[in-house]
Amino acid sequence: MFLPLALLALGFSGAIEVCVAAPSSTIHSVHDVHERRAAEPFGWSLSHRPDADKRLPLRIGLKQQNLDNLESLLLSVSHPDSPQYGRHWTPQQVVDAFAPKEESVGKVLEWLKDSGFSREKIKMSANKGWLQVEASIAEVERLLNAEYHVYKHDESGEEQLSCHDYSVPADIREHIDLIKPTVHFNHRPSPKSTTKFKRAGDLGKPSSTTGPKKSPNASPVPPTLANCDKMITLDCLKALYDVPGFHAVSTHKNSYGIVEFTPQAFLAGDLDLFFANFSPSLVGVRPKTILIDGAVVQTTNQSFDFNGESDLDLEYAMALTNPQTITLLQTGDLVEGAGFDNWLDAVDGSFCTFEGGDDPTQDGIYPDALPGGFKGKSHEFRDESTITASSAMRQCTEYGKLGLMGSTILYSSGDNGVAGNGGVCLNSTGQPVKNGTMFNPDFPATCPFITAVGATQVNPNSTVFEPEGACEQVIFSGGGWSNIFAIPDYQRTAVSSFLKNHPPPYTSAQFNNSGTSRAYPDLAANGANYVIGIDGEFELVFGTSCSSPVVGSFITMVNDARLAAGKGPVGFINPVIYSDKFKNAFNDITSGGNQGCNTPGFTATDGWDPVTGLGTPNVSKLIPIFLSLP
Ligand SMILES: *[C@@H]1O[C@H](CO)[C@@H](O)[C@H](O)[C@H]1NC(C)=O
Ligand SMILES: *[C@@H]1O[C@H](CO)[C@@H](O)[C@H](O)[C@H]1NC(C)=O
Ligand SMILES: *[C@@H]1O[C@H](CO)[C@@H](O)[C@H](O)[C@H]1NC(C)=O
Ligand SMILES: *[C@@H]1O[C@H](CO)[C@@H](O)[C@H](O)[C@H]1NC(C)=O
Ligand SMILES: *[C@@H]1O[C@H](CO)[C@@H](O)[C@H](O)[C@H]1NC(C)=O
Ligand SMILES: *[C@@H]1O[C@H](CO)[C@@H](O)[C@H](O)[C@H]1NC(C)=O
Repeated sequence: MFLPLALLALGFSGAIEVCVAAPSSTIHSVHDVHERRAAEPFGWSLSHRPDADKRLPLRIGLKQQNLDNLESLLLSVSHPDSPQYGRHWTPQQVVDAFAPKEESVGKVLEWLKDSGFSREKIKMSANKGWLQVEASIAEVERLLNAEYHVYKHDESGEEQLSCHDYSVPADIREHIDLIKPTVHFNHRPSPKSTTKFKRAGDLGKPSSTTGPKKSPNASPVPPTLANCDKMITLDCLKALYDVPGFHAVSTHKNSYGIVEFTPQAFLAGDLDLFFANFSPSLVGVRPKTILIDGAVVQTTNQSFDFNGESDLDLEYAMALTNPQTITLLQTGDLVEGAGFDNWLDAVDGSFCTFEGGDDPTQDGIYPDALPGGFKGKSHEFRDESTITASSAMRQCTEYGKLGLMGSTILYSSGDNGVAGNGGVCLNSTGQPVKNGTMFNPDFPATCPFITAVGATQVNPNSTVFEPEGACEQVIFSGGGWSNIFAIPDYQRTAVSSFLKNHPPPYTSAQFNNSGTSRAYPDLAANGANYVIGIDGEFELVFGTSCSSPVVGSFITMVNDARLAAGKGPVGFINPVIYSDKFKNAFNDITSGGNQGCNTPGFTATDGWDPVTGLGTPNVSKLIPIFLSLP
């Protein structure tokens, strides 16, 4: 996705010439710290100094224009009362609106040139947001006044290169958001330790004896509503959420993308095992796979940890939206794996791999205004506390831009209630520690430009015809308040009403209770006891990872109906679902909580709550309301 400077679009050549002609000078001598990590990341130890000659593809995130307006621009195309509702932007409009000022590009280029980097070593990203510099560790350390170390993950042994802080000249700071790789920890630990949804067998829950788990001959599971409290099937979901008989009619215009991160992969045999039992016409049908960053759908390693998430996502998304073709955005190669950045890089060209290199022949089809629900998957859950605020904001604005172009981005809200990944909580200065008592919000769930999906359950011994509760089996629905993002307008009324009418029994020592920060999740769907075909057997899985593809499937149904009516996709749905129009389109969840950090967490109650959001969708109601919008 990076172009040589020489090939840059016209608007930028002027700036470059100015820069090249600029006299070399020492005006950059005063360095100010630009970013500093508050503490070393939990679970990683300092290992050794890297080889000074090691190549380090440095990415400089330039300050973009108009980001202050992003929320209102996004609202103008996604708020139901806006005259611009549904008028989504083209990728070019997005690039033009947010591209950095020429002055910023010029100033940063001048600094790099003064620091000894020739023009051939500098490239610019397709969306103009990033400069990439080819440099060695030693050169980067001089440039940024930084000291790099290799960190080792205590459990997996995985290594990551990082520095504790870095500096840039005082007059450059205002032109830069962030520089990578520096203080940000972008690598997920190995797949085994990050499985973010869980199977019954691991935990010895009752379902493991009554469920279809480990049936050696893969015998059919009866499609019945009688046992939905013990095993969720397609029929249970259709009954719970009033899903009308669905047969996609706008498949060629619609798109439902699911992102999976290598080495996570689906197994064809697992899909067919599931389809044979629950959706026979899909046997033999596969997602349309797009490989990002040299990705492979690997089948060498097979286990629950490698296949569980992908099998789950595809089995339910494909079966619920049949015959819609699902686009599988498989991200990351076998060597480095991949994170959210790689995926964002592919969809809008603004983020990149750690070790460099995108394949433009693969990524070239993007950016693309995909009119569908994207389901960002949860394998690489992170917490706000593990990335810097500027990195979180930079990623979040990219999601906002995708919303401007008409994509719906869904993320699961996390599986540890008010605690963060792995049940970790924070100390009073906001750092992850073993016995922390402060709640630890999930990212990207707290990004106000995505839709965060929490988890519910059919309560034990209840039927699908009784109200669900917040999920309290195996996992607890992620929810709470951000420490980074301000509250978006669309949820102000709902959230302040919750704080006023149901004040939680906690203080600012547990969560940001100012009422001025983003609260999550936005909505919820069942996340307990899903039957999936996995490694040749049926097993039961739990998690907001189950909820998210189900909601994505419902949005795909909504888009199908809108496209058939000659309308556009719904795009960013939050301003709509919090509006009065949708008051009755959700089943309010009023029981259960999301315990964590040695507390009961928050409690689900009337109206929006930080456990199940607005509640679970009633698809029969959602479709006509969305259809009534322009
Ligand atoms: C995956 O398979 C390869 C090749 O068999 C093996 O070397 C590697 O250790 C496996 N990885 C894991 C995490 O099991
Ligand atoms: C919080 O934890 C970090 C990292 O362990 C530590 O540096 C900091 O001093 C702790 N803060 C308090 C108030 O204990
Ligand atoms: C947390 O644990 C550390 C050692 O693991 C201990 O020093 C500290 O006092 C504990 N803090 C609290 C609040 O329990
Ligand atoms: C559900 O029903 C079973 C069998 O009647 C009973 O043993 C169990 O305690 C019930 N569970 C709950 C949560 O009511
Ligand atoms: C609470 O959130 C607001 C808005 O994001 C932020 O400005 C404020 O600093 C946060 N307070 C604390 C104590 O983190
Ligand atoms: C969903 O909405 C339909 C149509 O208004 C209604 O008949 C049905 O009872 C609702 N389902 C639930 C579970 O509330």
